[in-house]
Amino acid sequence: MHWNIVRFDTLDSTNLEARRMIQNQSTGQSLHGTVVTAGQQTGGKGRLGRVWESPSGTGLWFTAIIQPQVPMEQASLYSFAAAVSVAEAIRQAADLQVTLKWPNDVLLNGKKLCGILLELIPYSKTEYYIAIGIGINVRQRKEDFPPELQEKAASLAMFSEKTIDQPALLDTILQQLKRTCTQLEAQGFAPLRDQWKAWSAIIGQEVSVQQYGNVLYTGIAEDIAMDGSLLVRTADGLQRVTAADVSLRSKDGTYGF
Ligand code: BTN
Repeated sequence: MHWNIVRFDTLDSTNLEARRMIQNQSTGQSLHGTVVTAGQQTGGKGRLGRVWESPSGTGLWFTAIIQPQVPMEQASLYSFAAAVSVAEAIRQAADLQVTLKWPNDVLLNGKKLCGILLELIPYSKTEYYIAIGIGINVRQRKEDFPPELQEKAASLAMFSEKTIDQPALLDTILQQLKRTCTQLEAQGFAPLRDQWKAWSAIIGQEVSVQQYGNVLYTGIAEDIAMDGSLLVRTADGLQRVTAADVSLRSKDGTYGF
């Protein structure tokens, strides 16, 4: 796979631009490997309909378009490839150790450093692309985040001595993404799942699972199933979590972010 980076100063959202490119593509043209990046996003999108703050020049906001080589039901597994790639790239480029929280948050010192939004975009009856949107906070100071995020969000600059070269970080992530996607397609989910679990902050920990603000259950995060869902051991048995938010139980017994 060869990456083709398309840069914009400002976009509403790199995921929306990727969708427009796919919808407007001419016959015979392939967008596989196209990467859309923006200096700022005016309508950055998060998971579950949330907003993703993406001010000018403070972070890496980009979307990689991929034509998956797996059946549509397995497309969500690419978000694990993305999370592992970001973790590995940050270790290489910034010398920082992140952890992963299901489904695909990247945490630094327990705070959210990076979010991943994977969208499936069909373009014919049988063919589809995925848009892997990745947002990494790079330069913000604590006070640059909106008040409600200040205790929950992290940037690389908050914890790294190094000045981060953003284009170089993007290149390192894309190299890793090529590796993890190729591995997923050639060897299936098992090796990637093992890598994800090695970076994970939640396996074996007590978690609370919420959907749209309501707690569904609490229990021990036991494993990741082969379809990417999270398996949580509760008092009533093993629960399979597909679309939700997960919080870790802190030492004081409260559930944090
Ligand atoms: C999350 O809620 O954790 C996912 C956040 C994803 C943000 C990235 S920034 C680049 C891309 N474009 C968007 O509008 N969203 C994603």
